[in-house]
Amino acid sequence: MHIAHDDLLSDILGLLAGEHDPIANAANTAAAIWQHMDRINWAGFYFRQGETLVLGPFQGKPACVRIAMGQGVCGTAAVRRETILVEDVHAFPGHIACDAASNAEIVVPLMRDGVVIGVLDIDSPEIARFGPEEQALCERIAAAYVASLTG
Ligand code: SME
Repeated sequence: MHIAHDDLLSDILGLLAGEHDPIANAANTAAAIWQHMDRINWAGFYFRQGETLVLGPFQGKPACVRIAMGQGVCGTAAVRRETILVEDVHAFPGHIACDAASNAEIVVPLMRDGVVIGVLDIDSPEIARFGPEEQALCERIAAAYVASLTG
């Protein structure tokens, strides 16, 4: 893995170690991503409440608070239960624009015991910013976050 990616993951694992609070851990995870990942303009969480994703801790500009399951990139990833990489958000039908600067996006569902409890969402102003390496990293971050909630 990319050296900076290694640093980010180990930083997050350190921040989450021994702490189970969902808000505190999401806040520190978003802050660590913001600190270590370059060329991004938003990083944060949405948590599922029934059929709605509700904004959680994040870094970046204020964002839309509620996204229906199935709507936007976030709601689509949550319903499909799989990561979505969007090279150009303007070409994604139903994309919800929270920051006009965003051009690329990655959304990783947070899976706990087979249930989607939310998503990790990162935006970039750079077209095609996120590829397979970033997907692997973000999926590990999402898994580390979910694992931190218990144990
Ligand atoms: N673009 C997202 C909405 C959330 S913001 O990017 C922070 C979407 O289409 O679901």
